[in-house]
This record gives sequence, C-alpha cells and structure tokens, in this order.
Amino acid sequence: MTDEELREAAHRLLSGNLRQGVSPFDGQPYSFCVPSSITYPYQWFWDSCFHAVVWTYFDLAQAKEELRTLLRAQARDGRIPHRVCWDKRAIYPYRFYLHSRALLHPVRSQLVQPPVLATALEIVHERSGDGAFLAETLPAVERFYRWLARRRDPDGDGLVSIIHPYESGLDHKPSYDVVLGTAKLASGRPFGAAHGRPWATGTVLAVRTLDLWNRMLNYNLPLIFRLDRFNVEDVAYNCIYAQGLASLSRLWKKQGDPAKARLYDDRAKRVERAVLERCRGPDGFYYDLYSRSEKIAPVKTVSGLFPLILDDIPAAEAERLVKEYVLDERQFWLPYPLPTCAVGEPAFDPSFRSPLESGLWRGPTWVCINWFIVRGLQKHGFGDIAATIARRTRELVEKGGFREFYNPYTGRPHGARAFGWSTLVVDMLEPAKGRGRGRKSKRE
Ligand code: GLC
Repeated sequence: MTDEELREAAHRLLSGNLRQGVSPFDGQPYSFCVPSSITYPYQWFWDSCFHAVVWTYFDLAQAKEELRTLLRAQARDGRIPHRVCWDKRAIYPYRFYLHSRALLHPVRSQLVQPPVLATALEIVHERSGDGAFLAETLPAVERFYRWLARRRDPDGDGLVSIIHPYESGLDHKPSYDVVLGTAKLASGRPFGAAHGRPWATGTVLAVRTLDLWNRMLNYNLPLIFRLDRFNVEDVAYNCIYAQGLASLSRLWKKQGDPAKARLYDDRAKRVERAVLERCRGPDGFYYDLYSRSEKIAPVKTVSGLFPLILDDIPAAEAERLVKEYVLDERQFWLPYPLPTCAVGEPAFDPSFRSPLESGLWRGPTWVCINWFIVRGLQKHGFGDIAATIARRTRELVEKGGFREFYNPYTGRPHGARAFGWSTLVVDMLEPAKGRGRGRKSKRE
C-alpha cells in the first residue's frame, strides 16, 4: 500500500463515519465523525480531537467543524462532556443514564476525557493558518482548561483528578484494579478465570458500581472528592493536560496576549513538575496516584511512558524511560509496540475475547497511544525509535485495517471496525516534519 492509498483509505473511512444535521434536542447544527458506526455511534471528546487532526489532510473545513461541534456541547461552566448524542434515539444504552444527570434524554455525559483539545486546535490552526477560527474557538477551549483547574484539582497540587476510569480514555487499564479493589480478581485466580488468563469481569462490574455511586451523588464533585472512592491523578491524563496548557500558551501568544501566554506556560510547567516529582517511582517509571493520600497504583501501564510527551522532562529521565521500559522486551518492546500494559504485569492480556472477559486497554496496542508517544520521542531526539513504532503501527493498519486495537505479538486486529482514530497513522507517515513545537531536545 502506498502512502497515498493509505491516506485515501483513511479519507474514505472518515467520510463514512461523518454525521451531519441539526440536533432535535437544542436546534444546534452538528458535523463530526462517530468513532465507529456500529460500536460507537455518538460523538466522543478525544476521538473528535484525533479526527480533527486527520481531517487536516483532506478537508480543513471539516477539521474545524469537528472541533466546533464538540465546543457546541460545552456546558456553561466550561466542562465539555466525554460523549454527546446529537440525534434522536428512542433508547439510550443504560450507561448513558449512569453517566448523566438527565432523566429523559441523557444526551451529554457528566464525565470528561483526556484534554487533548488545545493541542488538536493548535495542529488545526497550524495547518489551516485560519486566524478567525482561532479567535472564535480559543476562548471556549481555554474555559475547558480553566474548568479542569478549578473543579478537578481538589488538593491544589496542579495535577487534576479523574473520578471514573473512562475519563482517562483507557477504560479498564489495570492500574485502576488497585483503586477499584479488584486487583486480585483481575489477576485471574479467585473466581477460576478461564485458562488461567486475567479475568476482567470483576473490574467491569466494579466500574458499573462506581457509575451507580457517582450517579447517586448526582455528580457533585466536592462530595465525590470528599468521599474519595475513585480519585485518580492519572499520569497520561496529566501529561496530556500539561501538553494542552502549553498549546494554549503558544496559541495565546499568537493571538497577541503575552499575559495569558505566560499564565498558561506557568501552569503547564507546574503540571509537568508535579508529574515528574510526584508520579515517579524509585524505578524511574511513572505511576498513577490515587485517593487523597496520593498512594501509588503500582502497575506498569503505558500511561507511565507519557512523561515522554512533556516539553521539559530532563534528558536523563527520558533516556531512562526509553532504554529501560520502551525498548525492554519484558516491558513494552513487543513485535507491535506499544502494548497498553507492561508484559511483566499479572494483568497483562495481549489477546481479546470480549469486553467482559478481557476488558479494554489491558494489553493490546492502540494507534492513538502510539501517536502521542511517537511525537514525544521525536521531540526528545529519539527519532529512530519513533520511526520504528510508526512503521509497525502502519503495518498493523495495512494488515488488519483501521480497527480499534491490535494484538501486540501477532498484529491480529480486534474490536470496532472502521475505527476513526486509527486513521491517525496518516499523521505518523512523515514523522519528522512540522514537529518539535515544544522545547528542542539537546540531542537534536
Ligand atoms: C472506548 C475507549 C475510549 C473511546 C471510546 C470511543 O470507550 O476506551 O477511549 O473514546 O471507546 O472510541
């Protein structure tokens, strides 16, 4: 498959997933891509950010529309839901009721997703050069980050907390087993897991119980944080947050507002420092923190590699992450890197049977994760490794199509078909071009 053919296939996919119309709920126009027509027929926050990035290759107007549609779902206080339903459906999946405060039409969830929005806006702006679009959308995008700082940092340490695993985008990631109290279940023994493999049913049930809990508390954030049931300072979430703040800073600079540029630069640096100081384990790996007392969830997942996307990670730290973790075959260096969980973890499960049996994000390789890490590796002077990951990601897509995730050993595709964000591979084809917006590495 040539690059051009791959791009054409991605374009066809996004065009097929495009949904346009006027919402019967509030009369607002919408124009966005569903992640997958059958499995995920609504708008998701971070999926839309990724779709916007890929649309820049085919149709800049649509890239902007994807972000505009997301912003139309913004609540008055600045929050943007993790999932939005724009068209009328008689029956919503039960999860919609659990994730919403509404009784009749639970069309907007109360959860959020990784704040990649400002970075997506920066990419769309860079490629479109459309100053009017930036002026139109930047204040709303900024309000979302202000909301996160105001409402999601109960201990004021700069790191924002998620209140539900789905907010990380990595729904059943094994580090949450520790927080949910299902670590033993997930390692597969007590309930006679099939074939001695990890067993995610317990985790999925615990997630549903948490859904009920949050719904019962009516998504009252101060109360949720006071009761401290699921309060996670997630490494990947916070690295993406820091990256978003840095994008905001650069965008305000472009808009000629040096005060705001400074403000968000300071905030980005503060979050970076907090990740590097608080989430780092004695082994140089980075871990999610949970509960008010900031306990370490001692499971190595791909989130722990996300400090590689930070602008100011010290060179020695980045090098250690790359040498001891990314490139270690007993950790993350598999034939099709990067698995979502380190190979040595008891919960690591590279194959997939069903969401209930295997859960999601417990081993397979996902394209959006590689997109982030590849950009981080490039930024810090690991271009060769970035190129290898990008090449193998391309192989996955060429062999298995644009699927939701892939077996990191065999490349076998799994999950949703015609899956939107797997088209990010298009943005990884020419990795070195137009990158390195952050600090240039000394090694470059
Ligand atoms: C799954 C993923 C989540 C994604 C959603 C739609 O729930 O875990 O990250 O946003 O699907 O693709």
